[in-house]
Amino acid sequence: MSGKFITFEGIDGAGKSTHVDWLAERLRSRGLTVQITREPGGTPLGERLRELLLNEPMHIEAETLLMFAARSEHWATRIEPALKRGEWVICDRFNDATYAYQGGGRGLEKSKLQQLEQWVFGRQQPDLTLLFDLPLEVARERIAIANRPLDRFEQEKADFYQRVRQAYLERAHTCPQRIRVIEANNSVEHIRQQIENLLPAFFPSPMTGA
Ligand code: TMP
Repeated sequence: MSGKFITFEGIDGAGKSTHVDWLAERLRSRGLTVQITREPGGTPLGERLRELLLNEPMHIEAETLLMFAARSEHWATRIEPALKRGEWVICDRFNDATYAYQGGGRGLEKSKLQQLEQWVFGRQQPDLTLLFDLPLEVARERIAIANRPLDRFEQEKADFYQRVRQAYLERAHTCPQRIRVIEANNSVEHIRQQIENLLPAFFPSPMTGA
């Protein structure tokens, strides 16, 4: 694989999506071909599964299997081919979200997630994961201000989101070489600066021209 794979993660309301387009433009200005995508979604099938996942009540195991069904289609038909062509892929949520939401939030055993992960995309992991972290109350206030209908996950209670946040942070602690925590309770400029600061260490050639 010659392309690079960057994922954005965080609890709902962390503000990560605002920075996806910015980072893509930043990389394109360096001459790179960059695809932006998201999970669940990213393919016609994945987007249909997303509709179900966000709106239809379902059992936790069905939810997890549908997340991985969408991921399997996404990985095999879009992400892996793009990386093999040497393109960069920025994905708004990926596998770490399943560990945080279905594992941490809903309490599904990690061993089941590990088996599915192994099946769907083997040992490939993102080259860099930006974990947008902020206090729960701030995230929930941002969602409330947006004043739009809430999806099935956003309707979950505070203790669910505390577990999701905790699971994300634990994962960052376990994979410090891949997952970098962004302090997201800051201005857009400050957040971008945090991202700028860590890019050269991960991608020395395009970011420094070396
Ligand atoms: P989004 O609002 O960031 O697009 O994500 C949609 C929701 O899906 C969000 O609440 C998190 C949830 N989700 C999971 O529960 N597990 C997953 O594996 C993924 C990718 C998303």
